[in-house]
Amino acid sequence: MSWGRKSVLLCVLLVYITSLLEGAEKRDECAELNNTTWLRQQRVRLQVQYLLLTRRNADCAQAFNQEALTQQPSYFNASLPTKVIVHGYRALGSKPSWVKELAQALLQVQDVNVVAVDWVYGASFAYNLAVENYKEVALQISVLINQLQKHGCQLESFHFIGVSLGAHVAGFVGTLFEGKIGRITGLDPAGPMFKGADTYDRLDPSDARFVEAIHTDSDYFGISIPVGHVDFFLNGGKDQTGCARSRFPSMYGYVICDHMRALHVYVSALNGSCPLVGIPCSSYDDFLKGNCLHCDVFKGTCPTIGLSDNSGITVSSIPKEQKLFLLTTSSPPFCAHHILLQLEVSPLDRSAELQVTLRRQNLRTEQSLRLQTSTAVYTTVLAHPAALCETDSIELRNTGVRFYRQGDVHVKSVCLLEFPSVRREQPLCVNNINIRRVAPWFHDFVQVCGV
Ligand SMILES: *[C@@H]1O[C@H](CO)[C@@H](O)[C@H](O)[C@H]1NC(C)=O
Ligand SMILES: *[C@@H]1O[C@H](CO)[C@@H](O)[C@H](O)[C@H]1NC(C)=O
Ligand SMILES: *[C@@H]1O[C@H](CO)[C@@H](O)[C@H](O)[C@H]1NC(C)=O
Ligand SMILES: *[C@@H]1O[C@H](CO)[C@@H](O)[C@H](O)[C@H]1NC(C)=O
Repeated sequence: MSWGRKSVLLCVLLVYITSLLEGAEKRDECAELNNTTWLRQQRVRLQVQYLLLTRRNADCAQAFNQEALTQQPSYFNASLPTKVIVHGYRALGSKPSWVKELAQALLQVQDVNVVAVDWVYGASFAYNLAVENYKEVALQISVLINQLQKHGCQLESFHFIGVSLGAHVAGFVGTLFEGKIGRITGLDPAGPMFKGADTYDRLDPSDARFVEAIHTDSDYFGISIPVGHVDFFLNGGKDQTGCARSRFPSMYGYVICDHMRALHVYVSALNGSCPLVGIPCSSYDDFLKGNCLHCDVFKGTCPTIGLSDNSGITVSSIPKEQKLFLLTTSSPPFCAHHILLQLEVSPLDRSAELQVTLRRQNLRTEQSLRLQTSTAVYTTVLAHPAALCETDSIELRNTGVRFYRQGDVHVKSVCLLEFPSVRREQPLCVNNINIRRVAPWFHDFVQVCGV
């Protein structure tokens, strides 16, 4: 599209939004993200509009644009940092329902301007058409940012939070400002058509001073490669706990459950009831094998999901594309304690199956282990809702019995270690246990936290 036509469209948009704003003032109504039905009627190709939420109007969004800055009253305060929320592909052309929740969670933590970008029209229809539109959207946003700079906003005071395709929109805005934007958070950045893309075309660490991403569906809608300074891979980044198909009444809900988990975990992290800490590791397999128990590269302070500067990284050399792994539980607030479980058995003459259960009052974590004749030591990581020091008991059950004749299993040792741990505690071990075919084995822990 030529610049001429573009500016005509822009003018149409501005006039329209201005009238909207005036209308809103007159009728004292709150602005809302719109749906495509309405915009299609306007016969425009791609229109981006903005909503503003601040602590003074957290419940009632104000339509926002550069004109709104000079026309009083606007809730925008150029001395405060600005969070920009960018949604992603809208398969059904519906407006994203989570924008207000995310905005309000942000406003609870920080006194900021929250600008929600509404590009539902451009983000609907076929996915490849939405992808065609994303740079145009970024361009339109950059015009707004330029204006805001003229009103005294600093580039580094902008923090973009992009969901899915919105993460690459944010990345391209960052490219247009040569990486001088403060921060970009990609919530499961879109994968299809981006994984093999040049860094110019997708989110990457050069797009802002600090770029972070949370990956939850990297085998389907999300991108599987690291795209930030740090990349949090939740439960390995592919399949999320509690996203089983049976839980969802609609196919659509099931299909996007993994993908949307990044957003829900981020909102929950902002609520701040418990820390979501990522542990640097080269692969999820290594992480599950217990090969990555510390955050030594960060001088012991592990990166945390949330709003802390640089995700809480205190070392001066910020890494690039650092993979971080963590396990979560299946529902808010999602935080889990990582417990390394190591089991050593005496040689078996046939394969067997054991179930390990950790209990804390009515909370329980279960893990099944298939024991092979060729292996003596088994290691895995459990996501436990309680700290190890609060755990009441461990139970080992000989579960293979029901299906085939499985003999007694002699466990030389079962050891538990919570990580990441700064103090490098010794693992908690119980030795020399015979697990009979019929009776499960229990052990009650007598321990106190913080001793
Ligand atoms: C959304 O669409 C309705 C018409 O369907 C219109 O009245 C309303 O002003 C629109 N809202 C925004 C924020 O554009
Ligand atoms: C879009 O908005 C219009 C007007 O507000 C409404 O009539 C229509 O049902 C909405 N469509 C969807 C898919 O939400
Ligand atoms: C804008 O924010 C600054 C910094 O917090 C504050 O001092 C000032 O009062 C705010 N302005 C308005 C109009 O609220
Ligand atoms: C975050 O807190 C708000 C208000 O305190 C609540 O409405 C919302 O459900 C919480 N979200 C999550 C994911 O915990």
